[in-house]
Amino acid sequence: MGAWLLRYDGVDPDGERLRESLCTLGNGYFATRGAAPEASADAVHHPGTYIAGCYDRLTSTVAGRTTTNEDLVNAPNWLPLTFRAADGEWFGSRPGDLLGHRQVLDLRRGLLIRRLRHRDAAGRDTTVEQQRLVSMDDPHVAALRTVIRPENWSGTLEIRSGLDGRVRNDGVARYRGLADAHLSIRSAGADREVIWLEAETVTSAVRIAEAARTTVTGAAVARRETRDEPGWIAHHLTLPLRQGEAVAVEKVVALHTSRDRATDGTLAAARSRAERAPAFAELCDRHVMAWDHLWRRGRLDVGRSAAQRTINLHMFHLLQTVSPHTVGLDVGVPARGLHGEAYRGHVFWDELFVLPFLGLRFPDVVRALLLYRWHRLPAARAAAREAGYAGAMYPWQSGGDGRDETPRTHFNPRSGRWLPDNSRLQRHVGLAVAFNVWQYYEATGDLEFLSSYGAEMLLEIARFWADLATFDAPSGRYDIRGVMGPDEYHDALPGAAAPGLANNAYTNVMAVWALCRALDVLALLPSERRAELLERLGLGPAEITRLEDVSRRLRVPFHADGVISQFEGYEDLAEFDWAGYRARYGDIRRLDRILEAEGDTPNRYKASKQADVLMLFYLLSADELTALLARLGYRLDRAAIPRTVRYYLARTSHGSTLSAVVHAWVLARSDRAASWRFFLEALDGDVHDVQGGTTGEGVHLGAMAGTLDLAQRCYTGLEPRGDVLRLNPHLPPGLPGLGMELRYRGHWGIRLHADHRGVRVGLRRSAQPPIRMIVDGGPVTTIPAGRTVWFATSAAAGERTAGTG
Ligand code: BGC
Repeated sequence: MGAWLLRYDGVDPDGERLRESLCTLGNGYFATRGAAPEASADAVHHPGTYIAGCYDRLTSTVAGRTTTNEDLVNAPNWLPLTFRAADGEWFGSRPGDLLGHRQVLDLRRGLLIRRLRHRDAAGRDTTVEQQRLVSMDDPHVAALRTVIRPENWSGTLEIRSGLDGRVRNDGVARYRGLADAHLSIRSAGADREVIWLEAETVTSAVRIAEAARTTVTGAAVARRETRDEPGWIAHHLTLPLRQGEAVAVEKVVALHTSRDRATDGTLAAARSRAERAPAFAELCDRHVMAWDHLWRRGRLDVGRSAAQRTINLHMFHLLQTVSPHTVGLDVGVPARGLHGEAYRGHVFWDELFVLPFLGLRFPDVVRALLLYRWHRLPAARAAAREAGYAGAMYPWQSGGDGRDETPRTHFNPRSGRWLPDNSRLQRHVGLAVAFNVWQYYEATGDLEFLSSYGAEMLLEIARFWADLATFDAPSGRYDIRGVMGPDEYHDALPGAAAPGLANNAYTNVMAVWALCRALDVLALLPSERRAELLERLGLGPAEITRLEDVSRRLRVPFHADGVISQFEGYEDLAEFDWAGYRARYGDIRRLDRILEAEGDTPNRYKASKQADVLMLFYLLSADELTALLARLGYRLDRAAIPRTVRYYLARTSHGSTLSAVVHAWVLARSDRAASWRFFLEALDGDVHDVQGGTTGEGVHLGAMAGTLDLAQRCYTGLEPRGDVLRLNPHLPPGLPGLGMELRYRGHWGIRLHADHRGVRVGLRRSAQPPIRMIVDGGPVTTIPAGRTVWFATSAAAGERTAGTG
């Protein structure tokens, strides 16, 4: 099957939602799940079309409480297309009518291809071939081409091609019972070959218009009728068909919303685009060319075919969620892509696993994604003020306007109970924003962005942390209380009256990191801009002294043996019976649900859902971490690092797909075989749905991008820091080599190839200044445009040597 095709033979009702997620097609502007065109939402199928940034808020009553939830709206389904022999039943309406079915996702060309044979109740056999695309060339266009061939019959064929606005956000079983009807229909109509449907979201009042042009080649259409009912419109085409002769039905769809630029009305834009769009073949050529360009920029060769296909799949879904079409859209990175309704399409800290990777490939897209956060600074400031703090407090979950969208209750399917959800206390999300701003700056050197937008975010985030910290005079240290770390299993000490933990090590160290970057940025800004910003933000010398002071005296808890403690009090928690629970339950990833159903709580145990302390080793090099702790007056003994990794590894259930990514990363240097195992597990995450049914509700985009970044930054030791690009390749035994093309500081297509002997770096000819590199901690090598340099790495050669070519 090669590295570019994902193939499914036969039908599998139980696995259909997973296929729909994995076969989603999108272009960054919108995406459509790989649902069958003849299907509508039921126990097996969930057709879904999601438009980036199109959210709507509804109020529901759950467990006696009124709650408001914001969803990424399921837009009208543009897929509906079915057929029948004039006196027969519609294809898809009778179970068991398929004689054969094959579905292929062609990653390279961005096409979903389907071949099937159908037998109707009268024994008429028909072959169907379908190709579908969501254009990467024109982000407002999608198309479906269906070739129908009667095998053993001649007669009249009827085709139904529709637009369905009766869809709901009912794709996640756990959320049923919550309000899910986000669309009100404004109008529907038809004009010659085009039908259209215009809807509006209930509270955010976003207009969504879809127009579909259905044409037939290979036979003359005898009759074209329009049928409609509330929320639904279709063209019915009738045509004569002769045994063995094929007809091709092309449905070309245009989609616009009132959020679009350069339109003269949403509906008018959709209608004229559908009328004018070229035929499928031309749309397809341009779409394939756009994908070809993306693949050139996204090339990531891992040299092993099984892993390569999943790497390609992950790149594919990442680029379908955020692409060059994202630029200018005012959207963030939904944790589950534009692929399903889990987490309601909200944006979390998962950007931390996406943006550093993309910054070395598509920096313009990263800039746009960072602007999503900048535009939501006012909301983050308001949240901080409301909680009684200075600066900006970014929300754990956000969607449309940047307010906190984290639900206050969540459902445990195991116990059937609704429970309080305190995850909004994961204030560390703001640190991810700060980290991404800085990473983008390191990769691009874009001082304009930093001056105009990035600095403001960094300063406001740092300010919040400095204000949240309280001074404890007896110890001379600052404390941060009332937060949660990335490990969502712990939201309080056992028996505590209020939720929240003290001195989560990850949060505190990254807060110090952010404070340091805020101080750096003040030094870096052109003096006029610095003066403007300080004035505008009202950031005076006393507060800057406070930033500095907190950055030197924040507390970080350690266990008696030097292991960094996840939070204060962690050391006193009970050890968890891992072996016993594994024997009893098998899969214990969602230990929180198991324990709650037993009337217990993970708060009592040394048991984590995912990497928490170890996130520090994921984000920071050992040198950086040691230096940050030294700034705080703590000595991190080098031997304590592997001890800390082992300690938490033994106490983590990996209840989030992000966990395998982080563990593969932190083990890359100390235990390459274990790192490789985690890497493979992370690759399996969605393809094999390792979290047991969650991929059908949308892909895990952070983990997908995380696997790409393991290959891009971790195993190559790639680190843009302080005007120098560092490399320190350390490939796991399973990886023969790694090849990629990067963008860095204005250079396009820096070719990098690493294997177990060394690394080759080739710069294409350009007018850009030379880049400075450090390989394996050696001296700085300056590489001009047009030059290729090979470095033997110490892991292989014992010493580092450089040669040019
Ligand atoms: C993880 C979070 C993550 C969220 C969205 C949760 O299961 O614990 O770290 O941000 O999923 O992907």
